[in-house]
Amino acid sequence: MRLDKFLADMQIGTRSEVKKLIQKGHVSINNQIIKKVDTKVDENTIVYVDGMRVDYVTYEYYVLNKPAGFLSATQDMHYPVVLELVPCIRKDIGIVGRLDKDTEGVLLLTNDGELNHRLLSSKNHVEKKYYVQVDTDIPDYAEDFFSKPIEFEDFTSLPAKFEYINSKSAYLTICEGKYHQVKRMFEKIGCTVTYLKRVQFGPITLDGLDAGEYRHLSEEEIKTLYEY
Ligand code: URA
Repeated sequence: MRLDKFLADMQIGTRSEVKKLIQKGHVSINNQIIKKVDTKVDENTIVYVDGMRVDYVTYEYYVLNKPAGFLSATQDMHYPVVLELVPCIRKDIGIVGRLDKDTEGVLLLTNDGELNHRLLSSKNHVEKKYYVQVDTDIPDYAEDFFSKPIEFEDFTSLPAKFEYINSKSAYLTICEGKYHQVKRMFEKIGCTVTYLKRVQFGPITLDGLDAGEYRHLSEEEIKTLYEY
């Protein structure tokens, strides 16, 4: 990759800021000042900026506690988007799947395209657990109903795990991530979802994050995600 990309990815500055740093002689490799912004480097090159060592990190992984009101998108003309909540992370980070604008909770962010693809692939059946509140009493047959496939116009859901909390709230764990899936599943039993929060994605939980906060995933969490 180019030296200016290396430094911009590592958050030393914007692409134009790091170009200026390089051209002004602030950047060195192997004790040699490098002034060409397109000098080829790789992820093992050790670059110094004003004597500070910069190691390249290829992939980064975060979990964000998405608040309601934000679109799961990188940009939008009309609504705030989740990437505005993480202004300091590098520009190649993408979102793993989608939550509705009014849904809260676990949203993974990474620039690891392979993991992103694996987690979303329907073959891998990654469990997503939701806390759900509804407008009317949940019928007694809910657990049995959700434990069997449900037919929708565009897909048939896999058996889901229902956990009763009280007459108007529950947890539902599903393996797919179809459009409005949880809301549509509850509609099938006559309930309208009034509040929805994803509390777990595979092994990843919010772990104390308040709405709008985010954290790096641990090495252990990344390994477990890969094993899914
Ligand atoms: N199911 C929904 O209905 N909405 C979401 O945001 C996620 C799952």
